[in-house]
Amino acid sequence: MRNKDFIDVSKKLEGFLEFESSNAILAGGDSMDLLKRIPDNSISLILTDPPYHSTKKKNIKNDTSFSSDEMFVNWMKELAHEWKRILRPNGSIFLFCSSKMSAKLEVMMSDSFNILSHVVWSKPNEPGFDGWKGKMKKESLRQWYAHSERIIFAEPSSNGNLNRSWFGNFLKEKRTLCSMSGHELTELTGAYGKVNHGGAVSNWETGRNVPSREQYSKICEAFLNTGKIKEMPPYEDVIRPFEVNSFVEFTDVWDFYSVRPYNGKHPAEKPLDMLEHCINSTSYEGDIILDCFAGSGSTAIAALKLNRKSISIELDVKWIKTIQNRLEKYDKNENELNSLSNSQAIMKLTKTKSNGKATKKNEKQTTLFNT
Ligand SMILES: C[S@@+](CC[C@H](N)C(=O)[O-])C[C@H]1O[C@@H](n2cnc3c(N)ncnc32)[C@H](O)[C@@H]1O
Repeated sequence: MRNKDFIDVSKKLEGFLEFESSNAILAGGDSMDLLKRIPDNSISLILTDPPYHSTKKKNIKNDTSFSSDEMFVNWMKELAHEWKRILRPNGSIFLFCSSKMSAKLEVMMSDSFNILSHVVWSKPNEPGFDGWKGKMKKESLRQWYAHSERIIFAEPSSNGNLNRSWFGNFLKEKRTLCSMSGHELTELTGAYGKVNHGGAVSNWETGRNVPSREQYSKICEAFLNTGKIKEMPPYEDVIRPFEVNSFVEFTDVWDFYSVRPYNGKHPAEKPLDMLEHCINSTSYEGDIILDCFAGSGSTAIAALKLNRKSISIELDVKWIKTIQNRLEKYDKNENELNSLSNSQAIMKLTKTKSNGKATKKNEKQTTLFNT
C-alpha cells in the first residue's frame, strides 16, 4: 500500500522532481502548488517547519513575505487544508512554529485537527556555544527572553467530533455493523479491566487509548466471525502509531541540543536526533514522511535512516541543491554498504564514525549522513 502510494505521489510530482530513488523524492517548487498534486490519504506523517513569519529572517524564503499575522495564518490555513486531505486517517503532523505565533496557529489548526500536544523545545546549547542567550545584557530585557520553539503535534480530526480519534469512530461503526455490544467485544478480546468490564472497548472508542496488535487481531476475528464484515484493514492502517518510553523524551518539554554553527548550515536547521525522535515515535517502518518546507533536508535523512520513505519539497534553489547532494550521498553510501558483507559494512561504519571530530551529542549529525 505504502509502496503504491509512494509511486503515485512521485508520478503526480513529475516535472518537479530534483531527486528520486526507491525511498526518497525531492521536488522543487512552492509547497502550496505541489501539495495540491499529492493524492488524498497518502501520507503517514507530516513533519514540517515552515517560515516562522515572526522571526523576520531575510535569509529564509517567505519569512518576511507577510505584512500581517492574519495574512500568515491564512496562508497556513490553506496549507492545513491540504495537510488534512493528504494525511492518512491514522496519520499525524508536527508543525514547528515560534512561541509568538503558536497560539494563533494552534487555534487555526484545531479547525481540522485534534491537537494532541504543544511541545516546547527548550533549545539548549552545548556548553560554550550558547549564542545570544549568553552574550546579551539581561538587565535591558523588557520581557522574558524567548528561547524556545514550539511544535504542535496533532492528528486529523473526525468530522463533527474533534475529540474522538478516527480509530474510535471506525471501531464503533464496525461494532454497530456487527450488532455487538461493548461488553461482548471486550469479552471476545479478553480485555476486561479490573473494575469496568466494558471499559477497554469504551476507552478505544473514545480515543483514550488503543488496542495492542494482539487485541486488534482478536477484534478482527470477532467481527469477521459474525459474517457481517468481509475484510478488516491491517493494524498499521488504522492505529495511529505513538511509542515512547522512559529512555526518550516522553514529556512535552524537549531538550535536544541546537545544531552547532558549521559551514553551509541552514539558518533554521533542526537537530537530526530531534527529527529522528519525532519520526521514530509516531510512524511505522515503511511509512511515507513528508516535509514540505525541507530546508537542509534533515527530515529526509532522518526518515531514511529509520527505514521510512521520504518526500521533501523546497522552494529555494540553494537548499534544493543541498538536499539533492545529501540524498545522492546517502544513496551512494547505502548502495556501497549493501554491496559489502556484514563485517565489512560494520568496519566501514565504525571507521567513518571515529574519523569525525564530533562530540557525543552531535555525533549522529556529523557522521556520513550529514554532508
Ligand atoms: C524554517 S526553514 C526549514 C528548515 C529545516 N527544518 C531544516 O532542518 O533545515 C523553512 C524552509 O522553507 C522554505 N520555503 C519557504 N517558503 C516555501 C514554499 N512556499 N514552498 C516550499 N518551501 C518553502 C525556505 O526556503 C526554508 O528553507
